[in-house]
Amino acid sequence: MSKPATDLIQTKINDGIMTIHFNRPDKKNAVTSDMYDAMATAITDADARQDINVIIFTGSKDAFCAGNDLQDFLMNPPASDDAPVFKFLNAIAETDIPLVAAVDGVAVGVGVTMLLHCDFVYMSEDAKLSLPFINLGLVPEAGSSMLLPNLAGHQRAAELLLLGENFTPDEAKEIGLVNKICPSDDLHATAMKTAKKLAAKPRNALLQTKALMRRDFEAVTKRISKEADIFKECLGSPETKEALSAFKEKRKPDFTQFRKKPGSPKK
Ligand code: COA
Repeated sequence: MSKPATDLIQTKINDGIMTIHFNRPDKKNAVTSDMYDAMATAITDADARQDINVIIFTGSKDAFCAGNDLQDFLMNPPASDDAPVFKFLNAIAETDIPLVAAVDGVAVGVGVTMLLHCDFVYMSEDAKLSLPFINLGLVPEAGSSMLLPNLAGHQRAAELLLLGENFTPDEAKEIGLVNKICPSDDLHATAMKTAKKLAAKPRNALLQTKALMRRDFEAVTKRISKEADIFKECLGSPETKEALSAFKEKRKPDFTQFRKKPGSPKK
């Protein structure tokens, strides 16, 4: 397996199961470019091997993943389609290997959108979810602008994506994003039980079945690319700069200062 660029992502392979573990608990497992790169590489490596039937994503007790690292966004904005974040998103959208997620604590932004690409999602009753792109002056990623309305229906997706408020594991289960909610202490064992069942299946049929079941694959990757174009544009906007500064300064952002007067040019 290629050597990962960072130890903030830990991967291990055991009996047909690859574990990808977010290992940055002090920053609530916020994801930097190096971490995206390490995960994309791990998935590509798994695709190239013949002995991995399942990939499981795990985080820490109080954080599955707090989304993109907001500081890293400022320092290393994803400039092109082959930026690590997009390599990772395409890898989870394209792999035929079943993906399992064990979600505890906070799951924010990509910590939620990546679940739309997982085949099995197990969630602790203590999980706290949000899709705050709108509050950062950004647009959704990972194809979620299409996958979430398809899964949840337009109105419920609008609540999550246009308001960007926190939501609960029960709400996530209600929209079909979660297989099972369990006590935090049982989460890992519950997810591993499924991973082990998948590891025992005949690999060719398992991967072919997932490939056949997949939603309209080309439409999803096309949407990821369209979202990426708008996302990159938004990253340079005054609204996003204000939101990121506000996070750094631990204050509420003020977007009213950017409100245009009636009759101003559109752009
Ligand atoms: N990017 C960078 N750093 C982050 C981060 C992120 N996305 N999320 C958390 N951190 C850091 C915090 O800055 C803090 O660092 P510090 O100890 O050096 O000050 C540390 O992780 C702990 O976070 P804290 O905010 O104290 O924990 P909390 O339990 O009160 O809140 C969150 C957790 C995830 C709700 C909150 O940190 C948050 O809203 N983070 C931003 C999430 C986000 O907008 N992600 C991007 C989506 S596109």
